[in-house]
Amino acid sequence: MTDTAFSTFVRGLPKAELHMHIEGSLEPELMFELAARNGVALPFKSVDEIRAAYDFSNLQDFLDIYYQGAGVLITEADFKDLALAYFKRLAADGGTHAEIFYDPQTHTDRGVAFDTAIKGLLAGMDEAEKTLGVTSKLILCFLRHLSEESAFATLEQAKPWLGSLAGVGLDSSEVGHPPAKFARVMQAARDLGLKVVAHAGEEGPPAYVWEALDLVKVDRIDHGNRALEDEALTQRLVDEGITLTVCPLSNLKLCGVPSLDVHPLKKMLALGLKATVNSDDPAYFGGYLLENYLATADAVGLTRDEIVTLAKNSFTGSFLSDAEKAERVAQVEAYAAAN
Ligand code: ADE
Ligand code: ZN
Repeated sequence: MTDTAFSTFVRGLPKAELHMHIEGSLEPELMFELAARNGVALPFKSVDEIRAAYDFSNLQDFLDIYYQGAGVLITEADFKDLALAYFKRLAADGGTHAEIFYDPQTHTDRGVAFDTAIKGLLAGMDEAEKTLGVTSKLILCFLRHLSEESAFATLEQAKPWLGSLAGVGLDSSEVGHPPAKFARVMQAARDLGLKVVAHAGEEGPPAYVWEALDLVKVDRIDHGNRALEDEALTQRLVDEGITLTVCPLSNLKLCGVPSLDVHPLKKMLALGLKATVNSDDPAYFGGYLLENYLATADAVGLTRDEIVTLAKNSFTGSFLSDAEKAERVAQVEAYAAAN
């Protein structure tokens, strides 16, 4: 296959995205527009100046600028516009389903009501399904640099919205904030019928991935890269068929890998891990879903079969029903057979 034929094939392949922070899809152009609309001052004079600031050495470098950017999101319409802009990009990349993260504490801590963000996001998700045919689910993430008490207060605020939430997750600064810190609130969420995911092994050690499995009882691991340092842990993830939501361009931008050609994605597949490809914070890391597939395929030499496996994993690892998963996997197979 030529490069163009390959990228056309990957673009048309039905795919789900399982690891994408909606606040991380805020493009500088929209950031400026919302800042003007809401009278929020930005410490940047131009879109180019913002992009030039996206030069990170680690996760915390990124998080500092990401939380600052989210400060332009004030009204329900802002959150709806943000979500719709992302779904348009996803649809253009051949994405047909997404399970998106959002960080309510980032907004409630600066005076934006809990209901404002969730209403706006759900409106955007609803419109995306109607106008683009992209289905989606919403996952509320607790910020792990904040306290367990704050996470419990957030879960309380979420109770009227349980029917609209697929699950809860753990994000933000990983090192120093192990999954154990949130074991009780994650259990409370599970008792409410929510799915549970956690970022683990992005920067944190394999011990954090063990905790995510044993103490938090996660349904998926977000990232999980550092699990590969521990053979027994890797085997456990394989044996239990735990989905890893891997984010190659994020790993590159946050210096988890020195270059994309040494990214472990191909190795993960070879080991039998249920890896998926995702964009994490696409406005900050230089690429949406398709770019993550193509850049990684190019760098580590993914075969057409491996790409198809990644697309299937994205549906089998989703929180769709078993019947929906079977239907989506059949769509991937039909596309692969016909193209
Ligand atoms: N919040 C947004 N992106 C994140 C990431 N990659 N890791 C942890 N928290 C995040
Ligand atoms: Zn993430």
